[in-house]
Amino acid sequence: MNTSIGRRLEGKVAVITGGAAGIGRTTAKLFTQQGCKVVIADIQDDLGHSLCNEIGPQMALFVHCDVTKEDDVKNAVDMAVSRFGKLDIMFNNAGIIDPPKVKIMENETSDFERVLGVNVTGVFLGTKHAARVMLPAKQGSIINNGSVSSIVGGIASHAYVASKHAVVGLTKNAAAELGQFGIRVNCVSAFAIASPLVRKLVTKYDDDEIEKRVGALASLKGPTLTAQDIAEAAVYFGSDESRCVSGHNFVIDGGFTVANTSFGMFSH
Ligand SMILES: NC(=O)c1ccc[n+]([C@@H]2O[C@H](COP(=O)([O-])OP(=O)(O)OC[C@H]3O[C@@H](n4cnc5c(N)ncnc54)[C@H](O)[C@@H]3O)[C@@H](O)[C@H]2O)c1
Repeated sequence: MNTSIGRRLEGKVAVITGGAAGIGRTTAKLFTQQGCKVVIADIQDDLGHSLCNEIGPQMALFVHCDVTKEDDVKNAVDMAVSRFGKLDIMFNNAGIIDPPKVKIMENETSDFERVLGVNVTGVFLGTKHAARVMLPAKQGSIINNGSVSSIVGGIASHAYVASKHAVVGLTKNAAAELGQFGIRVNCVSAFAIASPLVRKLVTKYDDDEIEKRVGALASLKGPTLTAQDIAEAAVYFGSDESRCVSGHNFVIDGGFTVANTSFGMFSH
């Protein structure tokens, strides 16, 4: 039986930063199910190796990569090309969050710079080195992981909100430059998901309670937002289905950011 029929990323190659855990891990699994070979670029070596063993060496490779270090990012991209022959998709997914300190005076400059280092410089380096190898091929899809914090304030730390707004700026600017070479650049921006990142931050609630509270804030009632929803969006942006789409910030939040419910206009 030919299991490749209808696979949406058949024959493609991707690098996923932060691919060892959380949204990146879920995306790596979905990408490979859709026929894409993946390089998992992360600082968590054990988790990264175990994921590659689970997926299988024909489809997945782990590369130790700290996205704040240019040599590491360059190496991850080069490994995709040397091992799998090319790079079609770069998912700049790695990101961190610092605990929200309610007073800006209590925020340490070092924490602020650490978050911007991973969330913004990491995306810059991933975009730069993906473009380096995509440009001669005149094709490629770069996907950045933003957040609802890329469009609204007041829901996370100053550093995190600033960093995610910057990711959208970088997405638009890179799309403006790289479009002429056939390279698309988009951003996916999700509401909160009970991933390791959120669990570290929200210690007083279990996953069910986190999901319940997030669901209560979304306009759309019913489905529970999970990492799979972001992975599905990344498949779309990585696939040829989105071949005319570039420069977008695609928000996956059940309508949380488009409605201001403080008037209570539609509350029953
Ligand atoms: N979880 C959420 O609610 C949520 C919502 C919206 C957006 N996001 C964004 O999604 C992305 C992934 O978040 P997540 O929830 O899966 O987080 P996570 O903490 O579960 O996983 C992040 C992964 O990135 C890796 N990482 C951290 N620093 C790194 C570095 N310097 N270099 C390489 N890898 C590094 C970690 O080792 C981990 O494997 C982040 O950019 C985050 O801001 C998360």
